[in-house]
Order: sequence, then C-alpha cells, then structure tokens
Amino acid sequence: MLSWDEPQTLIRKPQGLPSFKPVQAPLIDSMPLESSSASAMSDRRVKVEDKRIINGASDVNQLVPFKYKWAWEKYLATCANHWMPQEINMSRDIALWKSPQGLTEDERRLIKRNLGFFVTADSLAANNIVLGTYRHITAPECRQFLLRQAFEEAIHTHAYQYIVESLGLDEGEIFNAYHEVKSIRDKDEFLIPFIDTLTDPNFKTGTLQADQDLLKSMIVFSCLMEGLFFYVGFVQILALGRQNKMTGAAEQYQYILRDESMHCNFGIDLVNTIKLENPQLWTASFREEIKALFLRAVDLEYAYAEDTMPRGVLGLNASMFKGYLRFIANRRAQQIGLDALFPQEENPFPWMSEMIDLKKERNFFETRVIEYQTGGALSWD
Ligand SMILES: [Fe+2]
Ligand SMILES: [Fe+2]
Repeated sequence: MLSWDEPQTLIRKPQGLPSFKPVQAPLIDSMPLESSSASAMSDRRVKVEDKRIINGASDVNQLVPFKYKWAWEKYLATCANHWMPQEINMSRDIALWKSPQGLTEDERRLIKRNLGFFVTADSLAANNIVLGTYRHITAPECRQFLLRQAFEEAIHTHAYQYIVESLGLDEGEIFNAYHEVKSIRDKDEFLIPFIDTLTDPNFKTGTLQADQDLLKSMIVFSCLMEGLFFYVGFVQILALGRQNKMTGAAEQYQYILRDESMHCNFGIDLVNTIKLENPQLWTASFREEIKALFLRAVDLEYAYAEDTMPRGVLGLNASMFKGYLRFIANRRAQQIGLDALFPQEENPFPWMSEMIDLKKERNFFETRVIEYQTGGALSWD
C-alpha cells in the first residue's frame, strides 16, 4: 500500500548520458513461430544487447531486461512529480485580473499572447509523441517515458485551459491565436513539417535518409520546441510571479517548467543515444542543417518576444531575451555535440536556473497539501 509519509526516494536529478558501450551486435534473428523446444524458446528471450532505440528487432512488449536505465529513472522521476492544475489556488489571480488597476495593458497583452502560444503548443507536443515519435522508438523503457510524457502534455494543456477559464478570457481569441497572431503562427509553421514527418503513416525508419529525418525531427522537438520555444513564455509568467502578480498561474508554470526540463533532457539523451548507435547519421552536412534550424528558431522566438512585449514590461524587454535565447541555444547545441552558436553569451536571468532546479522537489507533496489548506502560494524571493 502507498504511504505518503515515505520519503520520495525515486526522485533523481536529470542525468547525463549513461556510460554503456554502443552495441554493434547483429539484431536478434526472427524465430519460426512453430518452434517450441526449450532452447528455442529461451533464444527468443529479449537480450540487453539486442535492444536498440530505433530499428530494433527485440520485443517491444518486454520492458526488462533494462538497457537504457536513464530512461527508466527519468520515468520514475516524472511520476514522482505528479501534479494536477486544479489543485492550485487561482483566487488571487482572478481578483487581480478583474481589478481595473490590477495590471497594466502591457501586462494583460503579455499574458494573453503568452497563453495564446501555450494553449495549443502542448497539444502539438502530445500529438507529435502519440502519433509520431512513439511508433518509431523500439526501446520499451523509452516508450514508457513517452507514455508518461504524453500524459503530462495533457496536464499542461489542461493547466493553460484552466487559467483561461479562471480568468474568464475570451476562449475563441486565445485558442485561435496560433492561426491569428503572426508571431505565434510563425513558430508553429516552423514546427509542423517536422511533426508531419513523424506522423505520416507511410514514414518508416531503416534508411539513411529516413533515420536522418527522424533524428532531425527529434532534435527540433526536444532542443527547439521544448528546449527553446517555451522559454520566453516561462520567463514572462515566472517574472510576474516574482513580482507577486498572477501567482497561481506562475505556480502552474513552475511545475510545467520542471516537467518540460525533464522532457527536454530525456529528448536530448534519446538523440545522443541514437547518435551513438548510428554514427553514420551525424554527417557534416546534417550538422550544418541542424545549425541553420537553431538560428532560425532563435529568430522566431525573438520575434515572439518582441510581439508579446513591444514596450518592455516587468523590468524585462525584448532585447534581454535576445541574450537569453542565444544562451539557451548554445546550451542545447552543446548538449547534442555541436559547437556553441553564439560564443560568450551569458544568462541574463540567472534566477531561471533556480526555478528549473525547484528545490522544493523533495517535499513536493507535503508543500502542495499545505497550499491546498491555506490557499497560499510559493514564495517568490
Ligand atoms: Fe508540455
Ligand atoms: Fe513537453
């Protein structure tokens, strides 16, 4: 039986790549189904050395024996961080939004444009996983993480919807922003071809071209969508929270940020393991293509920053985001083995790193109960 008093020993910090050796062994031979001798049956058992992230031939229904323990540990860590949007008290946000003097017009624009991106972004992410990536991954422990991730994307869409509903915003305006607001539409139009690649029912891995297309889409998704396109929006709402405004929304975003940094790290581990197992994919021309995508994504996210805060708000302005986006793009590039794209960029928002670490992780459940009872919020010092 579950006991909520037990320490949450499952929580792990995001980890780097495991130190396993890439396997070059031939894939498991398919056994004739009519074979029934004991030795033939044991030959059909899944062996660690037969497992591969893509193009594997071992049984995807058998979770163990584990080969990619980092994926399993990340799955456990995400489960230990479970939360639901309606557990967070929104009454202060509602009062502030309804008060004519509560927020400036620029702050209101920022919040609406911010939600305008996010209310559909996590549905795109969920569909990309469920209808695309999942089918092409042949390691069951990685699939297990993707199943959990897909559910978390549903929770995030729920959280954004819950904020829109709580504040009484015009749902038509917010949920259609990805059609109607150019800076949001441009980001989504950049992403959609890569999602379409993976969700195309005729797409199959197993050739150099197809495997490079898969890897490219996975890099775009983890490094540029979850790893870059979310970050202007996260900084904006968390900056509001630090000024004691929209603290309920900010608390939701803080939990989402924690989930997303786990998704991003998992995606990067997946990309790096595919590279280890398939070094032929990582050609010079492929790397150039990836760099060009990074540069385009930074431009698109910067345009979104300018559009959401044309005059500067909350002590933030769009040009500060140029430095921040370059800093993040460098980090993502280095995480997948590319050189920094913008050498010597520094982080203008060091407090964001603390948000990502979320020191309250260890006692998350207890904190949430206290908040529930008092209607309090996280402290934003
Ligand atoms: Fe999400
Ligand atoms: Fe995500």
